[in-house]
Amino acid sequence: MDATGGLACQRAEFSLPEDFHYLNCAYMGPLPLAAERAGIAGLRAKRFPQAIAPDDFFRPVEELRARFARLIGAPEPNRIATVPAVSYAISTIARNTEAGPGRNIVLVQEQFPGNVYPWRRLVAERGGEIRVVRRPGGGRGGGVWTERILDEIDGSTTAVAMGTVHWTDGTRFDLAPIRERTREVGAALVLDGTQSVGAAPIEVAALEPDALVVAGYKWLLGPYSLTLAWFGERYLDGIPLEETWIARRGSENFAGLVDYTDDYHAGAQRFDVGQRSNFALVPALSAAIDLVLKWKPERIAVYTAELTRELFPRLRRVGVRVEESAWRSPHLFGLELPQGADPERLKAVLARRRVGVSFRGTRVRVSPNVYNTRADVDALAAAFREALAR
Ligand SMILES: Cc1ncc(COP(=O)(O)O)c(C=O)c1O
Repeated sequence: MDATGGLACQRAEFSLPEDFHYLNCAYMGPLPLAAERAGIAGLRAKRFPQAIAPDDFFRPVEELRARFARLIGAPEPNRIATVPAVSYAISTIARNTEAGPGRNIVLVQEQFPGNVYPWRRLVAERGGEIRVVRRPGGGRGGGVWTERILDEIDGSTTAVAMGTVHWTDGTRFDLAPIRERTREVGAALVLDGTQSVGAAPIEVAALEPDALVVAGYKWLLGPYSLTLAWFGERYLDGIPLEETWIARRGSENFAGLVDYTDDYHAGAQRFDVGQRSNFALVPALSAAIDLVLKWKPERIAVYTAELTRELFPRLRRVGVRVEESAWRSPHLFGLELPQGADPERLKAVLARRRVGVSFRGTRVRVSPNVYNTRADVDALAAAFREALAR
């Protein structure tokens, strides 16, 4: 069994097929057995609705917020909203972000579309411009990209919305100076942490973004259709996308629901999606986050780094280009094929050798996690060697 960074391989917590090398957590995290059990129990509860008490609409969601708050180092769980998707959270945020002629929103080139379209809508409706910060060429990494982002932020910027890492290849950005610069000019910093939170540590209390949104189904290892969004002070009084009854003050008292009120529960609950108390998804995501908390993101990061350390020289020997280690995420990295290499041939070899990764153009996105072993990494290296042999 592999054991790196004090963390042993956790494959036994999952039900991945024995003969498959799943290196694709950036696509979707496999559901751990504990999360599957919690989800099934939640689904079953509806066999007998009388046993579902009003408390079941509230307590499990509060527990989920508390777990996520611990994971992201945020002191106030009630600033976390439960929504179905990143696009939903970003649409909420865009709706509450200033825009207009002469103002600009800064985005990063080729970032995930769920963090682009809501901003395009905002600018289309209210005016202003979107500035897309291009990836530096010539193999220069996240450091130069960070400088370019800083250069684009000016006194007319109302928001910088970007991933904590780039979703296509795990490029890391230096978020602290970006936070500093956005604060100087009064712009919001909106982070999509979907591709790093759970696999790498983050401290909201230290970084102080204005929002951090994380889809539950990748590195949090949860089910699909549940996303968590932390909101800073700037957005807490915002207008939600929908007006749910459960977000209103006093909603715990089902007998008094028609005593309508204009007040919301404290914090970010106003941004929760309708029917947020999903009896299957909420406990499943909680169970998954419990595992991540037990393993600890900093140990997970060491695990993936050590697991793949010897992979990079092996791949370089067959002509593959890899981002320099300072700007590469250990859990998510892009491998650039040498000129003239045929991605279709590589795809066929990977399929035959039962290795699961993602393709983004001529780049291969590899994303290991705690269930992976040296055998998985060896299978990947062998597939590249075979496919790139002349
Ligand atoms: C960075 C990032 N954000 C968000 C998502 C998912 O977005 P949504 O929840 O809007 O479907 C993905 C999926 O690949 C992603 O990579």
